[in-house]
Amino acid sequence: MVEHPHLGRFPRVRPRRMRADDFSRRMLRETTVTVDDLIQPLFVIEGEAREKIPSMPGIERLGLKPLARQCKRLHALGIPAVALFPVPPQTARSEHAQEAWNPQGLAQRAIAAAKDAAPGLGVITDVALDPYTLHGQDGLCDERGYVVNDRTLDALVQQALSHAQAGADVIAPSDMMDGRVRAIRDAFEQGGHVNARILAYSAKYASVLYAPFRDAVDSADNLSGADKYSYQMDPANADEALRETALDIHEGADMVMVKPGLPNLDIVHRVKQTFGMPTFAYQVSGEYAMLKAAAANNWLDERPAVMEIITSFKRAGCDGVLSYYAEEIAGWLA
Ligand code: PBG
Repeated sequence: MVEHPHLGRFPRVRPRRMRADDFSRRMLRETTVTVDDLIQPLFVIEGEAREKIPSMPGIERLGLKPLARQCKRLHALGIPAVALFPVPPQTARSEHAQEAWNPQGLAQRAIAAAKDAAPGLGVITDVALDPYTLHGQDGLCDERGYVVNDRTLDALVQQALSHAQAGADVIAPSDMMDGRVRAIRDAFEQGGHVNARILAYSAKYASVLYAPFRDAVDSADNLSGADKYSYQMDPANADEALRETALDIHEGADMVMVKPGLPNLDIVHRVKQTFGMPTFAYQVSGEYAMLKAAAANNWLDERPAVMEIITSFKRAGCDGVLSYYAEEIAGWLA
């Protein structure tokens, strides 16, 4: 018998024994992806149409009727919740983004349509001004183009309240303004929306992986080369992500999120270990586009590639994943 520095009493300890057959691999398996882990992001447009998004193959912008049908289908598949991203026409965008809290706006009607179609399906909404501003920034800008924090908070509060009034179950501020969770939580308490949940994009990095999303919501041209570095986080920072997350929890978030997902699983792990909060990650549009492109070229086997990655999200500590693959994964699992 050999004393092995890591294995001890080799060969009595042979980790490969448990990997030898499918049954014992299953017994050994620590992490399982289920349909309960999946949140499907959906893009919403006016009208009845379905529009393809070239940089996101398989994902479409949905008019309200197709949206309702899609919500029914996702609910039937067992997916617990959808995240709605409205794509208002350019004519609805403005300097002050007032359309964001129009009670009859596209987002508000989409919330109602989704809840009406599938009352048991959780509806999560995005709170940020980027699809409503002419410059495509998530907040209101001063004359120098700097996104001003506190005036933006007032707008975000109105937007969040309008979503809660329209029937949203969870509102998800993705804007990265300071103090927004507190401001929204206070408004919800005062406005009688005590059970409106807040899923805070707590550690949201300034990432080029959002590019296909900006095509999808038609904000890429509005941004015209500008960036979001003055409010989204530097991908070089990790401790700062924990400080941001601590603030959001302190301000009243029910759930926290890290985004993008795969490049930041170390952050997911630290956030989960540190706070023990319901922790989510967003597999963003660029992550989806990379996988779709590789699959389309037969460079990767799509299904096992996607399952490997989603499993690693869970292993890192995610309670759930926002993924454009949610519907496909739910189909594979069924
Ligand atoms: C906007 C928002 C973005 C995403 C979600 N909400 C883009 C951005 O911050 O520019 C990105 C999601 C994705 O890439 O799939 N507040």
